[in-house]
Amino acid sequence: MTSIVYLHSPILVVIILLFTFLSNLSALPLAKKDGFSVDLIHRDSPNSPLYNADETPTKRLKNAFDRGVSRLNQFYMKQSNGPHLGVSSDNGHYLLKFSMGTPPMDIYGIVDTGSDLMWTQCQPCEQCYKQINPVYNPKSSSTYSEIDCQSDECHLLDTVSCSVQSLCNYTYGYASNSMTKGVLSKETITFSSSSGGQPISIPNIVFGCGHNNTGGFNEQEMGLVGLGGRSLSLASQIGSFLGNKKFSYCLVPFHTNPNISSKMYFGGGSEITGKGVVSTPIVPKEDKTYYFVTMEGISIRGKFLPYNSTGTISKGNVFIDTGVPPTILPQDFYKRLEQEVRSSIPMTPYQDPQLGTQLCYRSNSTIDAPILTVHFDGGAQVPLGPTSTFISPKQDVFCFAMSTTDVAVGIFGNFAQSNFRISFDLERQIVSFKQEDCTKG
Ligand SMILES: *[C@@H]1O[C@H](CO)[C@@H](O)[C@H](O)[C@H]1NC(C)=O
Ligand SMILES: *[C@@H]1O[C@H](CO)[C@@H](O)[C@H](O)[C@H]1NC(C)=O
Ligand SMILES: *[C@@H]1O[C@H](CO)[C@@H](O)[C@H](O)[C@H]1NC(C)=O
Ligand SMILES: *[C@@H]1O[C@H](CO)[C@@H](O)[C@H](O)[C@H]1NC(C)=O
Ligand SMILES: *[C@@H]1O[C@H](CO)[C@@H](O)[C@H](O)[C@H]1NC(C)=O
Repeated sequence: MTSIVYLHSPILVVIILLFTFLSNLSALPLAKKDGFSVDLIHRDSPNSPLYNADETPTKRLKNAFDRGVSRLNQFYMKQSNGPHLGVSSDNGHYLLKFSMGTPPMDIYGIVDTGSDLMWTQCQPCEQCYKQINPVYNPKSSSTYSEIDCQSDECHLLDTVSCSVQSLCNYTYGYASNSMTKGVLSKETITFSSSSGGQPISIPNIVFGCGHNNTGGFNEQEMGLVGLGGRSLSLASQIGSFLGNKKFSYCLVPFHTNPNISSKMYFGGGSEITGKGVVSTPIVPKEDKTYYFVTMEGISIRGKFLPYNSTGTISKGNVFIDTGVPPTILPQDFYKRLEQEVRSSIPMTPYQDPQLGTQLCYRSNSTIDAPILTVHFDGGAQVPLGPTSTFISPKQDVFCFAMSTTDVAVGIFGNFAQSNFRISFDLERQIVSFKQEDCTKG
């Protein structure tokens, strides 16, 4: 048996989107070619199949910070050709619900902008983790097809091998020993439109039919949806189908009523326009999975703190990661920033062993924190208010939602992204931001 060395990229990001479905998808209407929107919900919503009611807010915060650090570690291991890891399912924050096959069945997948492969658990299971919903069975779908291992499609992924039947066997690994193994295949997937329009069916989407899936996935999660930059990702496949490689999302803030969802758009209609739109180039790097941009610095009360105080700012020094909650910055920059934040808030920091060394305050309302304006290359200034820079891990406590680790490349995490519509134009290679109340749809 061929051994498969796994080298997958990501770092990190997991987002989970939830598509609310309209009822009857069995008619599989022709796809609309312009674009469509779907609902995006926060993982911690009680409506989310990922919601863990037993998890305390403090634990949720700690997990969120741990996820960021472990993703960066994975990223650096990958850069150094170390062992290959990626995202664990616990990194999920938003859920994507779509349907697959003919007749269609619902799939809930963790959406991960830091990886590219979309996969679901597949019968027959050699080794599947426990799943509440029925496991997808390719034999019951008339639109399922296998990819031949000699075809170009098989080589969209590096970690493939030919089976004796000439199937395209893949292995894809994630953090904490999570992995999926199976057969790269094609299927029709269907999205309900959250705007109430007709469902959109897209044929021949390449996905992993996972027969051996292990790791920290929970029983609600039926697989993972990669939205990274490579051609295999669902974002790229939808873009090719629509002839329009764009998408945008608006993340509802962490402490919003979790029943409120927001919309994610694919293709035409995903653009953001008008007053207040700022843009920055996506920096091409060897690793095409991540969306790297250049952060020049952050200003606070009129004082500009450069990303690097001793040298030049290198291009592509952060990547935009919807799956990592905190923003993670290099140590020197973080220290300068945290000091400035600390001295701008006229309150005594709150020490709580459960919260570690994170900068926190006690307050029964909100924190009167200054705006942190993030300066991206190209003049894009993204102002972050207290709801994006402080999160409340427990009642009456607010903690600074950024963190550090010993790295040069950082992460622009999802707390900081909330209440902006963020659009990715993969043709023009730019990311744009516009302030928006994401709870307003
Ligand atoms: C599943 O994959 C793991 C990791 O490669 C392997 O150790 C295990 O034997 C496989 N299980 C089955 C039933 O094939
Ligand atoms: C290919 O994948 C199938 C299904 O998981 C498995 O039964 C078979 O052993 C694999 N073959 C190789 C060569 O890995
Ligand atoms: C969310 O929706 C559920 C079910 O409809 C409801 O019971 C709950 O009170 C709602 N939560 C909030 C915070 O509105
Ligand atoms: C800052 O610049 C110096 C000198 O070019 C370099 O050695 C250092 O790694 C840079 N630090 C970061 C965080 O980019
Ligand atoms: C918050 O605390 C202040 C001062 O301790 C108190 O006056 C106020 O009533 C509190 N507000 C709420 C909503 O509990």
